[in-house]
Parts: sequence; structure tokens; C-alpha cells
Amino acid sequence: MWKIPPTHVERLRTAFPAHTFVHATTNDEALTTIPDADVAFSTRIDRTQLAAAPRLRWIHSPAAGIGGMLYAEMLARPIVLTNSRGLSSETIAEHVLAVTLAMFRRLPEAFRSQAARQWAQNEIGAAGNRQIAGARVLVVGLGAIGTAVARRMALLGARVTGLRRRSTVVVEGVDVLGIDRLHDSLPGAAVVVIAAPHTHETRNVIGARELNAMSSDAILVNVSRGPLVDESALIEALRAGTIGGAALDVFVDEPLPPESPFWTLPNVLITPHTSAVRSDYWDVATALFAENLRRFEAGEELVNLVDKEAGY
Ligand code: OXD
Repeated sequence: MWKIPPTHVERLRTAFPAHTFVHATTNDEALTTIPDADVAFSTRIDRTQLAAAPRLRWIHSPAAGIGGMLYAEMLARPIVLTNSRGLSSETIAEHVLAVTLAMFRRLPEAFRSQAARQWAQNEIGAAGNRQIAGARVLVVGLGAIGTAVARRMALLGARVTGLRRRSTVVVEGVDVLGIDRLHDSLPGAAVVVIAAPHTHETRNVIGARELNAMSSDAILVNVSRGPLVDESALIEALRAGTIGGAALDVFVDEPLPPESPFWTLPNVLITPHTSAVRSDYWDVATALFAENLRRFEAGEELVNLVDKEAGY
């Protein structure tokens, strides 16, 4: 999914005939071609590749999350980093609505009973369906994605609280608080959506203590990165039923290994890091990179600059 199609590399070649574009389709190919590169368009340049890239001045990621690239060697080099934040926010927000509604309306149970040709009205009825209207929704991280989620939840009638590092933003219909209010905001939230970037500060932002503070019917939705949640603590909470369920699009280890307990927990909805998937993704991602490449050539300020120290 994260490999640029050859057609889009051709587009770049046509738009920028003065540059040489090398399409590396594997890590090994990237390693052998990166020594000559001034610029990389990639979701991840690893330590070995970076060490082999003395000329590299700028990396543009077609993804929004670049936390995995902010290792010490990367921070130590004056390489400019830009990302694709904003491109997926509406798609991911729709994904959050989809999984929340699926769990509230008990669609996984309906799919299972449909496959077994069973009319499970009483079972599903007894488990109780819920609605977003009137529910309390907590969104952790109010960047482009979190804001898009919060707005949509508010429009559906939820009482929405959004937490962010700088609580100065205004989002209509949403109570915006500082991230330091996480613990007081967890009890009573029917849905907790993780939409903050992966930085050293957000690692395990949801751990045993936070899971304990959540209601026993609350749903945790993670569309950020796996390391924001302490997975062992989450598995324990799901097994013990101290939270209601989880809709997880991201994991510490991806692909999620077959032996992971998440696969078999009945109150977990797994999507394989596809919350940002949209059919025209490479069109918009390539266009954003092209705009930045034009700016790079012209010596203008790039869009979507990443603050490497802050981590997003
Ligand atoms: C992203 C993602 O970072 O989809 O854009 O995970």
C-alpha cells in the first residue's frame, strides 16, 4: 500500500525533467540507490539507509505519521522532514465513525450470526445497542485527524472533549482541554479515540492506569500508532472486561503476528492499518510531494514541515 505506483513516478519525471527519479521498490534497492540521493520520498528511511546517504537533505513522507523516523541519528542530521498530514484526516475520521458505529450497533455479532444463518435478535438485543447521539466522546490529539473526528462526532450529537498539547484551538461544538486533563476526562467517556502523533511523550499514553479509569463499556479506538497504547495492559483490560472493547487499526508489531491475543478477543475489531486508505491516495500524495519539490527548487518554505524535536 505504501509503495508509490510506477505511473506516479512517471508523473514526477514528466513534471520535473531536470531531476533523476529512482524508483526503489525494496529496502535493499533503497540502500543501494540512496548514496546519490538529495531527496527521498518515502514513509521510512531506516538507520542503515540514512548512514549510506551523505547527500540527503530532505525527506518527504507520503504518510502523516513519521514518529518511527525520528531516531537519534536522524535528529542529529540537518535533514528537513515534511509529511502528508491533512491528506487522510477525513478518511480516517470516517473510519473512526465506521468502527464506532459498527461496535455500537453490534455489526461484528450481526456478521457472525449472518454467516451462521442465525436470527440473533435476542442475543444482539440483550447485549444492547448504543448510539453516538448523547454519548461522551474523548479525542486524544486534536491535529488534523483528531479535529476531523471531533467535528463529525459533535455533528452526530456526541458530547465531545478533545485533548491537545496546546489547548488554544477552537473547534465548534468541542470542549478543548490540555493533554494534562487526560485522567479526569477518561471516566464516563463512551469512546476514547487516539489520534495523537507518536512521540516519546505519547508512548503508552494509554496504559494500565488510564484503562482502569475508563468505563467498563467504553470503546478504545486507535488510529494513530501502536506504541501509544500499552498493548499488554489493553489485552488484560479486554480479557477482564474492565473496558467494553477496542477498535484497533495500528499495533506495535505490524503485520500483527498470528499468535497475537488480539485476533481472538471477541470484543476487538481489527483493521490492518487501513484507516487512511482511499483509492486516490497516491494522486493526492504525489501532488503534495510535487508541490513541495517545486518549492524546494525555488528555495521557498516547504509545506507540512515536521518539528523534529516535537515529533510531529
Ligand atoms: C499515516 C497512516 O501516517 O496512514 O498517514 O498511518
